Amino acid sequence: MLSQSTQRCVKKERGSDLKKQLIHKGSWGNADVFLCSQGQAQWVEKGFDGKNLLVRWTIGIILTQRELLISTRLKDLAGIPQGYTRKSLCTLTYNYMDGMILGARDLDHALPVDYFTACERLLHSIHEKGVVHLDLRRGSNWIVQPDGSPGIIDFQSSLLVSLLPGPLKKFLFSIDYSGLYKMWSRKCIEGLDPDRKKVFHRINRLRRLWIFSFVHI
Ligand SMILES: Nc1ncnc2c1ncn2[C@@H]1O[C@H](COP(=O)(O)OP(=O)(O)OP(=O)(O)O)[C@@H](O)[C@H]1O
Ligand SMILES: [Mg+2]
Repeated sequence: MLSQSTQRCVKKERGSDLKKQLIHKGSWGNADVFLCSQGQAQWVEKGFDGKNLLVRWTIGIILTQRELLISTRLKDLAGIPQGYTRKSLCTLTYNYMDGMILGARDLDHALPVDYFTACERLLHSIHEKGVVHLDLRRGSNWIVQPDGSPGIIDFQSSLLVSLLPGPLKKFLFSIDYSGLYKMWSRKCIEGLDPDRKKVFHRINRLRRLWIFSFVHI
């Protein structure tokens, strides 16, 4: 049986019904994201090919290579897009994850606690592989899959942390948890329990002192 990426290539060569739709227009220094489909196959194309030469050859290449490297660490982890392939030096393709973006207004205080405890387990699995995401305060990087299970996308700001000293690693992990708890307090039917609320507030205080706090407060 042909792999999914080979099937895609074969279909592309036939050149029949390839559709490419822009789903997220990045600013001058951010990737554009397209949803591509051909027959039953659907995949995402994310990259800097439409940006100017300077952007393509600097952050375009760096961020794309970093996301590709991270994706190999997270291969086969359920809840993470799979099938990462390099289309060009600064563009990747990978599997589309069906479902809703957690940031959707309709989901405010609408999801069961189970979704968030599953998010916590998924985050733990990502951290166990030596990866920290660092952009989880945005609802647009969390997916609620049709079966109610969580997905995490967008590893362009992520770091490999295996070689970092323990306390720093722990601190970076806690930034991811504070992103999750922010979503939890806004999107769960029930509020955050007192223990997690305490952790959330503690991490937030620390985060304000941290260099990354300029990214998304
Ligand atoms: N694998 C995927 N499955 C489903 N939807 C996706 C996938 N990848 C991207 N998207 C959609 O495209 C949007 C933007 O993708 P992504 O977050 O990777 O790009 P970005 O440039 O980092 O955007 P942002 O700066 O808003 O985080 C996502 O919020 C989501 O709606
Ligand atoms: Mg994103």
